[in-house]
Amino acid sequence: MPLEIFLPFRGGIYDRGSICGALPPAIITLALVTDTETNRPLIEELMALYSTFQFPEYQPAGMDLPTTVANSTLCHVSLTRWMNSAGFKRKTPERSERCAGVVADVCKYTVKMLNKLADQGAFAASHAPAAIVGDCMTCHQEEAPYAHGKESCIVCHGDPHN
Ligand code: HEC
Ligand code: HEC
Repeated sequence: MPLEIFLPFRGGIYDRGSICGALPPAIITLALVTDTETNRPLIEELMALYSTFQFPEYQPAGMDLPTTVANSTLCHVSLTRWMNSAGFKRKTPERSERCAGVVADVCKYTVKMLNKLADQGAFAASHAPAAIVGDCMTCHQEEAPYAHGKESCIVCHGDPHN
């Protein structure tokens, strides 16, 4: 598989800040080696893990980078949270190292899930969407104004009913 096909995902799809570029290659890889029924829980687990993980864990350059939880799978949110926490005001080598570490962490978890599946023949999720999603969706998945999704609602909306 030519690895170049994954490059457009960098920076949340060519620097658009959309979905974190670490995720689509992992998702494609999972979908390449499993059927749809099998990969759905794996992919949902990966998305939920991403939103709750203290990135970056893998820090081979020894820069002692701070870690943050994105509470989102968006590049823009994930990176800005980290930049603010680290106190960086512009693009630095640490920023690149942080994002490379995120990619490594996502790869590692993807392989771990596949190994678990191969060893045990089944996969049990250990991460779930933020609890607030369930709270908001009790109403918004049934009635207007209709919403769709499992990303933490309050990242963008705060709590509009308070
Ligand atoms: C008890 C049902 C219920 C729950 C729970 C609920 N909503 Fe709503 N929401 C509504 C209804 C009904 C409306 C439309 C009337 C209104 O604006 O109050 C609405 C309106 C909205 C709107 C559009 C109006 C605005 O004020 O911007 C947003 C955005 C929204 N909800 C987000 C959320 C989020 C985020 C949560 C969870 C933190 C949530 N809702 C939880 C019922 C609910
Ligand atoms: C990445 C940011 C983001 C996230 C996360 C998000 N929303 Fe939204 N949501 C928006 C935007 C932007 C709009 C469009 C607002 C507009 O057009 O006025 C919107 C629209 C809505 C509306 C319709 C509002 C209206 O006035 O009709 C509801 C209801 C809503 N969202 C609920 C939710 C719920 C529930 C969740 C969690 C599952 C959620 N949103 C997650 C950004 C987000």
